[in-house]
Amino acid sequence: MDIKKFYNKKLEQFGENDFRSLNWSDEEGKSAKKRYKQMSQYVDFKCKNYIGYDINENLIALAKKKYPKHNWIYDLNKFKSKPYDLCISSGVAGNRGGPACKHNNLFTWLSLLSSISNKVLINFPSNRATIRSANVEYFSPEYVLGQALNITENVQIIHKQKADFLLILTHE
Ligand SMILES: C[S@@+](CC[C@H](N)C(=O)[O-])C[C@H]1O[C@@H](n2cnc3c(N)ncnc32)[C@H](O)[C@@H]1O
Repeated sequence: MDIKKFYNKKLEQFGENDFRSLNWSDEEGKSAKKRYKQMSQYVDFKCKNYIGYDINENLIALAKKKYPKHNWIYDLNKFKSKPYDLCISSGVAGNRGGPACKHNNLFTWLSLLSSISNKVLINFPSNRATIRSANVEYFSPEYVLGQALNITENVQIIHKQKADFLLILTHE
């Protein structure tokens, strides 16, 4: 199924205050927050300006409603050329049929995010996961590392438990 339709259906099913609308496994978002917490250890959140991006217009409209003072977009072209200090992608790579799904797509996507930002953090479901969900793509950390090293030599893979891992690309 098309990714936008998939999330529109989830939103219709669970509503705007339930993390399952974003295909996280639980209503309160414990699984999502665990990943946000891990990412927060590697970044300085004192930044003044940020832009939230998703391809789904309905989810962006909801984000605008909930946090009207912040910037939200669903058209990547709007910030493609600007340099940013940091780009964080959580829960996106694992979408079946998503930006990282096919081998060529992964390299193109990593290159794009690296071209707009000095530091890129992306979490990936790991192929070492023993509990699996439908519609989720699982990645080999060895393969992701190899692709990332084609972009910059400053790469970290943090693989602390079997469910997922974090990739950090830095241009310094
Ligand atoms: C598991 S949810 C994660 C949402 C949020 N980033 C979080 O961490 O809670 C996956 C999100 O990825 C979005 N998505 C799928 N493909 C995308 C793409 N190519 N670019 C940006 N977002 C995408 C979906 O619309 C959906 O909102």
